[in-house]
Amino acid sequence: MINGKTVLAGVIGWPVAHSRSPMLHNHWCKVHQINGAYVPLPVAPGQLEVALRGLAAAGFRGVNVTIPHKEEAFRLCDELTMTAKRAGAANTLRFEDGRILGDCTDGTGFCDNLRAHAVSPSGSVLILGAGGAARAIAAALQDCGCDVFITNRTAARAEALVSALGAGVVLPWADWPARLGEMQILINATSLGMGGHDETDWPSILQQAQLGLSVADIVYTPLQTPLLRAAQQRGLRTVEGLGMLLYQARAGFHAWFGLWPEVDKQSFDLLMADLT
Ligand SMILES: NC(=O)c1ccc[n+]([C@@H]2O[C@H](COP(=O)([O-])OP(=O)(O)OC[C@H]3O[C@@H](n4cnc5c(N)ncnc54)[C@H](OP(=O)(O)O)[C@@H]3O)[C@@H](O)[C@H]2O)c1
Repeated sequence: MINGKTVLAGVIGWPVAHSRSPMLHNHWCKVHQINGAYVPLPVAPGQLEVALRGLAAAGFRGVNVTIPHKEEAFRLCDELTMTAKRAGAANTLRFEDGRILGDCTDGTGFCDNLRAHAVSPSGSVLILGAGGAARAIAAALQDCGCDVFITNRTAARAEALVSALGAGVVLPWADWPARLGEMQILINATSLGMGGHDETDWPSILQQAQLGLSVADIVYTPLQTPLLRAAQQRGLRTVEGLGMLLYQARAGFHAWFGLWPEVDKQSFDLLMADLT
């Protein structure tokens, strides 16, 4: 029951109705018997600063920030973790004494999900994509000591990402498959495969992989993307994207509600059921 002691948090986006975060955080509040509530907060572009200051003044502990506000949230933070600085984005904000403290949990969430699938974030890693998610993942993998290779349909964006990170190698989009045999992990961080749409001939491309390759997709609608299906058919270890969504949420829950929730079968099934 919501009362005067309820701890408040939420997710800001535009639109935000599709977000699964309220379902997940409220589930965790329930199983851990926390007097907390996590609400969707639709905030139009241009209104983020007003919304953040208002929520902080109204006693919210903090918020998640999603599309299209992650970069602006980064600029509005009074303090940033090293991870958020390297990712150039903030998705998890905490309000403290009128200040906004920002973190970016996408990259660590991705790495935690790899580990949960018994894949060590190490060795040579090829990231497809150079958008916001790719950037957070690349930074986290560099922090783990990986040799990061990046390829993107728009080459300039990949070059900008490597230059911002100060490390990494750009491979041309047209011929990255020729380098696949050198990689330990392949990551799709583009929106290819969303909604099941993807014309890429993954089976032919994956013929060039060594059998120790692990293949991760951060797209989770559908859970089994065309890339992951082809990788499974080739006998490669696969890592789906839904786990990243769950693991990236843990740090925010801890910051606002005070404990680290488990990413267990129950929480995974809850989101799965909503996706299918
Ligand atoms: N699992 C999770 O928790 C999680 C978290 C964040 C994001 N995601 C998913 O990750 C995907 C990327 O998100 P984002 O925030 O990084 O988006 P973004 O910043 O808009 O970047 C999109 C990326 O996809 C590439 N791309 C789009 N269409 C393509 C196509 N037809 N062929 C090749 N490349 C294409 C873009 O390449 P160009 O630069 O050439 O346009 C860019 O690299 C989305 O599907 C999102 O839902 C999942």
